Amino acid sequence: MCGIVGYSGKRSAQEVLLNGLEKLEYRGYDSAGVALALEGGIHVVKSKGRLEVLRRKLEAENLPESFCGIGHTRWATHGEPSDVNSHPHSTPRVSIVHNGIIENYGPLKADLMAKGVTFESETDTEVLVKLIDYFCCAQPKQSPLAALREALAMVRGSYALGVLFREEPDTIYAVKKESPLIVGWGEGENFVASDIPALLKYTRRYSVLEEGDMAVVKADGIRFYDAFGKPVEREVLTADWDEEAAEKGGYPHFMLKEIHEQPAAITATVSPRVENGMPDLRIPELSDEKLRSIKNIHLVACGTAMHAGMVGKTAIERLARVPAEVDIASEFRYRDPILDPDDLVIIISQSGETSDTLAALRLAKSRGVPVLAVVNVVGSSIARAADYVLYTYAGPEIAVASTKAYMVQLCTLYLFAFRLAYARGRLSEAETRRLTAELLRAGEVIQPRLADCEQIKYLASRFVNTQSCFFIGRGFDYALSLEGSLKLKEISYVHSDAYAAGELKHGTISLITDGVPVIALATQKQVYEKTISNAKETKSRGARVILFTTKDAVVPEGVADYVVRLDDYDELLMPLQLIVPLQLFAYYMAVLRGCDVDKPRNLAKSVTVE
Ligand code: F6R
Repeated sequence: MCGIVGYSGKRSAQEVLLNGLEKLEYRGYDSAGVALALEGGIHVVKSKGRLEVLRRKLEAENLPESFCGIGHTRWATHGEPSDVNSHPHSTPRVSIVHNGIIENYGPLKADLMAKGVTFESETDTEVLVKLIDYFCCAQPKQSPLAALREALAMVRGSYALGVLFREEPDTIYAVKKESPLIVGWGEGENFVASDIPALLKYTRRYSVLEEGDMAVVKADGIRFYDAFGKPVEREVLTADWDEEAAEKGGYPHFMLKEIHEQPAAITATVSPRVENGMPDLRIPELSDEKLRSIKNIHLVACGTAMHAGMVGKTAIERLARVPAEVDIASEFRYRDPILDPDDLVIIISQSGETSDTLAALRLAKSRGVPVLAVVNVVGSSIARAADYVLYTYAGPEIAVASTKAYMVQLCTLYLFAFRLAYARGRLSEAETRRLTAELLRAGEVIQPRLADCEQIKYLASRFVNTQSCFFIGRGFDYALSLEGSLKLKEISYVHSDAYAAGELKHGTISLITDGVPVIALATQKQVYEKTISNAKETKSRGARVILFTTKDAVVPEGVADYVVRLDDYDELLMPLQLIVPLQLFAYYMAVLRGCDVDKPRNLAKSVTVE
């Protein structure tokens, strides 16, 4: 949701900024721009469209070398994607890039207009730059730092900012409030970025800005101030990803690469949490005694992470018999949920920055309920705000559509469910060991699904021209239907809906006519025959049915047009295997339909606005 970068050092700032923006394009790709400190002042080049358009514009301008600048890649919130609405927003004295929303931009704009300030864009960000500029010109004359502080004291909302002043052409001011921001430490050069991949070509050392922090970034050092303006130190961390992890590595798309990285991600996430064959959360505060005292569990997340929560809920309830609810974070935060101090809230997020999810976490904490976060990004806002963290080790996920992060969220929730059930005496030690061993070999189990995708490619080719499609399933298979359907619609733009298989005949079956694709998931013995009957009901009305089921399941005549078989695996863990062909189906549909797989329209990777 918008990416920002900044650089001060000895290299070409233009090159460093473009490289950083390329790595952040997954955060938004409506438009892009840079502001460079040059001899005569700040020079801004920006443009609607992908980064390539900006790159060409910069090449055509052939500017003299600059060693300090800021850059932005945009996901539009206020104002349509256009050249004028693109960032940086500037005055001759100051230029800014912004990720977030200035909520009170309306009244501020009206005040400034009353003072004769003019505006050209529809953005909230332009209001902020004009406000900073206004304070720069105030009498008595203010330093850039003082002007920036005065302006920020007047704005409400969220922001990660990079600010460049004409008066200080070697300095980037970086400010963070409720939007992610890091600084990178180099030798004789330093960096600002929304996320780690933007830095990896130059350095792996970084510091995370805390709420309200300002960093003053120059080539020879970085100074930090906290929300009260007091000088502070911030820890220097080392990214354990290298540049290669954030590259396509020979795959045509990040999404395909990330689907194939799932076995490694499973091993990286599960192995460190298994001790002598038993699941070990490695969180002393979540001892078996504490786990025994939990009354209810609330799993809260958005989108794909929420779908992982649905699998977690089913596993927790089935194994540990603890009531578990799944909540959409944007609903949870506003519905005054019933929470007990003996409950546990589990927050699930790949990025650790999703605004609604973070707000849900804060609500739970304000009610005195302990929060466990399942997060992929180390040091992210959610990881830092939670009481306990179970990191997932998927590595950087660049494709907008989440695949490997979802997979390891499932694994982590399974591990949690195993330990919870064991602690509460619902699973014997032998059974806990058996399930943990099964989970450990999940990477191996999904290998054939990755290696042998010809059938899925073929199915995608048969359904490529479809307008609309339905996924059905029960229990775990329903949770997977939701995720398979989301993957398909977000990257291939085929309308798709998911239903609990038994629910279809309560209305939606009226949409099933000749040739409508129905993807039926039936991997759970207890409800297998029920789902088969539901698939048959759609087939009788003309649907073209693809059935995903287990190796030995008996499929009656006339139920499905195509059957995709999974290998033998523990039924409880079957979602780990089933999700792979669903991801691949969405992927190949998108490729065959000529869609931009890694950067689907209107989406952004990390949703830091409500
Ligand atoms: C879909 C997808 C999104 C995210 C959602 C939450 O493929 O990736 O639905 O799951 O935006 O994001 P995180 O997990 O970063 O909180």
